[in-house]
Amino acid sequence: MDKLFLPVLLGTNRKKRNSVHVAKWLVGEMEKRPEIETRFFEASDFALPHDDYGQEIKDLFPEWRDTIIRADGLVIVTPEYNHGYPGSLKAVLDLLLREYVHKAVAFAGVSAGPWGGTRVIEAMVPMVRELGLAVTFSDLNFPFVQKTFDAEGKLVDQAFEKLAKDFLDELIWMSRTLKWGRKNVPSKFHQSKAS
Ligand SMILES: Cc1cc2nc3c(=O)[nH]c(=O)nc-3n(C[C@H](O)[C@H](O)[C@H](O)COP(=O)(O)O)c2cc1C
Repeated sequence: MDKLFLPVLLGTNRKKRNSVHVAKWLVGEMEKRPEIETRFFEASDFALPHDDYGQEIKDLFPEWRDTIIRADGLVIVTPEYNHGYPGSLKAVLDLLLREYVHKAVAFAGVSAGPWGGTRVIEAMVPMVRELGLAVTFSDLNFPFVQKTFDAEGKLVDQAFEKLAKDFLDELIWMSRTLKWGRKNVPSKFHQSKAS
């Protein structure tokens, strides 16, 4: 079967972000899967202007634009900031619209507290629905992230390996099914190249 292209977006540009450990570890887990091709993006990669916003400036970020056009799905790793998502994550996602339609999205939530980003994921679901993304139901939650990875970013709780396998299995199923649908079932919302 064809490989699935499933990029990963880390949604924060905070300098001391612990969620980068989650994102890099997850990229490593994805790279072990022969069904997946991935690519890592961080909100800090995007020099977003202060005086413009949204789809009008998408061509300032051609790598992101072309990645999402080609993607079969997306993994979003997001920390929880005051029970919501970072503004930097929303600003990156808002660069595009039709490019996301009928593709899968899976969430990994990260928090210092005990809830592992469950609240930020719940907050994101209605937002990504408006982008046309289809949400998987197998989230990854990283509570107490400062204890789950050591100072070098190495995972210390191996239980996450099985959780990541289930998370990726579900994302692969959704992405493969939607890929078939995009190819075989016409929709006025599909686009295959930059516009
Ligand atoms: C602005 C801000 C708001 C935060 N709000 C929450 C919160 O609502 N719940 C929580 O568990 N942790 C909260 N945290 C702590 C983060 O979850 C913690 O820093 C964790 O490591 C993930 O974020 P990071 O990738 O920026 O480090 C907050 C951190 C910041 C910077």
